[in-house]
Amino acid sequence: MFITFEGPEGCGKSTHSKKLKSYLEGKGHKVLLTQEPGGTQVGKHIRSLLLNPESVLDETTEVYLFAADRSEHVSKVVLPALKEGKVVISDRYVDSTLAYQIGGRGLPEDLVRYINMVSSKGLIPDLTLLLDVSPEVGIKRAAQVGAADRFEKEKIQFHQKVRAKYLELAQNDPERIKVIKTDSRDIDKVQEKIRGIVETKL
Ligand code: TMP
Repeated sequence: MFITFEGPEGCGKSTHSKKLKSYLEGKGHKVLLTQEPGGTQVGKHIRSLLLNPESVLDETTEVYLFAADRSEHVSKVVLPALKEGKVVISDRYVDSTLAYQIGGRGLPEDLVRYINMVSSKGLIPDLTLLLDVSPEVGIKRAAQVGAADRFEKEKIQFHQKVRAKYLELAQNDPERIKVIKTDSRDIDKVQEKIRGIVETKL
């Protein structure tokens, strides 16, 4: 079972993915929680290149760096764990590239989808939890966690386009992508919804 968490900045992915991991472990599942970018040793270097506000990257360079990170992650971490029978939870995956690089950056859809297919080796999540938050609330929340990274520093319009693309993806694939609103601060209620959706899928 391969579950991904997706969403705009400050949507609560990190909190909820950790809580879901503990919950599933409590039910006796073996769980691997991982992330993109940065889920491998090489990926950690790629992550710091991508998130450092001082990196000046062309959009195409950017999408290839995410693809390089994913290629390493899928072959060295995700696929081996799935083969061992673990539930794999990834904090971001292919839908981030669609939302940020197509929606946010405006790269062509066919190019990004092709790059995603190659870098993911065709591995599609069984379930994607899209935590949806308005950019106004999300950016404020993210700002409380630490200094803004290269994406968090983008204009509000960029974040609006990312969110709109995410919602479009969910509308086109309602079987896989489940939308959960996280504007309210009620973490327990959101987690309860997440668990319900995951239980149904399991
Ligand atoms: P996060 O892991 O702290 O959420 O930060 C990762 C940032 O990278 C976030 O702003 C979204 C962005 N991102 C993309 O633009 N494309 C991608 O394919 C992925 C995985 C992340």
